[in-house]
Amino acid sequence: MATNPSGQIDSVLTEVRKFEPPAEFSSKAWVKSLAEHQALCKRADDDPEAFWAECARNLDWFKPFDKVLEWKFPFAKWFVGGSLNASYNCLDRHLKGGRRNKAAIIWEGEPGDSRVLTYQMLADEVGRAANALRELGVQEGDRVAIYMPLVPEAAIAMLACARIGAVHSVVFGGFSAEALADRINDAEAKVCITADAGWRRGAHVELKNNVDEALKRCSTIQKVVVLKRVGNKVSMRSGRDVWWDELVARQSPKCPPAQLDSEHMLYTLYTSGTTGKPKGVVHTIGGYLTHTLMTMKWVFDLKEEDTFWCTADIGWVTGHSYTVYGPLAAGATAVMYEGAPNFPHEDRFWRIIEKYGVTIFYTAPTAIRTFIKWGDSWVKDRDLSSLRLLGTVGEPINPEAWIWYRRVIGGDRCPIVDTWWQTETGGIMIAPVPGAIATKPGSATRPLPGVAAEVVTHDGKSVAANQGGLLVIKRPWPGMLRTVFRDPERYRQQYFSQIDGVYFTGDGARRDEDGYFWIMGRVDDVVNVSGHRLGTMEVESALVSHTSVAEAAVVGRPDEMKGQGVVAFVTLEGGRNGNDQLKQELRAHVVKEIGALARPDEIRFTDALPKTRSGKIMRRLLRQIASGDQTLGDTTTLEDLSVLAKLRDDEE
Ligand code: PRX
Repeated sequence: MATNPSGQIDSVLTEVRKFEPPAEFSSKAWVKSLAEHQALCKRADDDPEAFWAECARNLDWFKPFDKVLEWKFPFAKWFVGGSLNASYNCLDRHLKGGRRNKAAIIWEGEPGDSRVLTYQMLADEVGRAANALRELGVQEGDRVAIYMPLVPEAAIAMLACARIGAVHSVVFGGFSAEALADRINDAEAKVCITADAGWRRGAHVELKNNVDEALKRCSTIQKVVVLKRVGNKVSMRSGRDVWWDELVARQSPKCPPAQLDSEHMLYTLYTSGTTGKPKGVVHTIGGYLTHTLMTMKWVFDLKEEDTFWCTADIGWVTGHSYTVYGPLAAGATAVMYEGAPNFPHEDRFWRIIEKYGVTIFYTAPTAIRTFIKWGDSWVKDRDLSSLRLLGTVGEPINPEAWIWYRRVIGGDRCPIVDTWWQTETGGIMIAPVPGAIATKPGSATRPLPGVAAEVVTHDGKSVAANQGGLLVIKRPWPGMLRTVFRDPERYRQQYFSQIDGVYFTGDGARRDEDGYFWIMGRVDDVVNVSGHRLGTMEVESALVSHTSVAEAAVVGRPDEMKGQGVVAFVTLEGGRNGNDQLKQELRAHVVKEIGALARPDEIRFTDALPKTRSGKIMRRLLRQIASGDQTLGDTTTLEDLSVLAKLRDDEE
């Protein structure tokens, strides 16, 4: 997809199928009709502050807020003067009534072990872990890095931080030691919580070893807490490393929740941007929790008896918002599964749905495309009749995958909610409210109540129906990021400087004649690989840190399974020629620097990168070449892109 200078984007997708909400579903839904949805939206638009205040009152506040919003462009404060605690809202408030012995987390480990934690049990564990953090000297505002497999203790660690007002920074377990070190250093984390290892496709993910490696480059970490998950041998450095079991088990389960300002930082989560290292997106308590709680109701239509399964790892925002904070704040039963979808066989997810009677299932398009590839036979012997609602997130879903999801997983009976949002937005922004909004395969449909989304040109003008443009949010919303950790200027620059007066998402979109949004992907230098965001700059700096590489340019190209694949154009030091062995070496180098998710699908050596007269790399040209629009023959030999560049110079 390409933008022209006005920010308009040519859209090629046309999809005419439309699915009305099933009457049976609507009759029981929180929002039962289009008219109700429109009334909610109107109320929110007429008086956004009154609307969000009402939403926020679904939380338990120690002290009520006295001002709904303080907006000093581009910095927002929500529910000013109020105090609350996220772990109290996710746990304690459910202990007073019938939810005390309800399952909060149903967890299944990859090898087949499983655990159920009721709200009471989870609250006790969180209390112990919170006291343990206090014993280690963690104080309000201190950062705690969490680098764990998807086990209950990961959620417990997050909630324990929230309980004492510490700030968690979860780092995905698939990131390398280098990437972990960068994140620990940027956050200046004091404690790191990890595990000996995690399970992935029957093998160990060596988390503790990676921590040891990372900490060679970090000076702020004072203590490392290690959960025994797989029982492998790891080295424990005395004075620094403590076993979770020894530390946590001896603590009291009672830990009074800190009474924290609504704008106190709840967490930071690193995500890729267009420049430099990943940035720490900052979320604060009151607004974030309001947003995640409300979307559980609006988008997932959550009822007391639901069993909700979001398959995302806790290392991503989806795991934060829809495995931990949203479901638990809503008093739901959340399923967590540690491992790979094809271990031991390709039907693992369907067995989990069958075993626990999952009613709401939320996953990524890339996973759905993989299931399609594996074949319907893995699904057909499983009883998926408990399902009543399906969701997707992370990237545009192609209509064919959507239709397969509806037919094969949803038995043609479950509505699908295609949810558009970002790490920065905190919670879902554009999605069908399933009892009210008819769906079209491939469209995230309409903005949620209170969300002022629009498609505009570079100079902020609305575009006509079915014209591509840039997706912006015109009003602050409670779940929005507050800043970039310790870098407010980067926050302003990245999100609020490109289009006057509004939040720029970095995505292209079009709105059709019914007001439905069709997200067309990133328009900046971010690629979306299997629903995970990667800054092309990050991969480039990983490549140039290899001694043979002089310069690198990384672009995305369409990939049938992953959404986008990573293609790297590389020039070598001293005019060297590349070969296959060096390609392998460079791919391994990127894995070491960032993690397997950033491994280039293809490396192409070139004698020079195509640049404009002003020295800017011509990415559009590279994207075209990478997607095969331009054939340049054998890719292992040197490509003379500079010639092409000369021909195309005027176009960038
Ligand atoms: O490009 C959009 C895409 O994922 C980006 C956000 O990535 P991240 O912060 O990692 O969060 C992913 C999970 C919330 C967006 O800018 N994206 C996310 N959801 C969708 C989507 N693209 C199309 N349709 C979606 N439903």
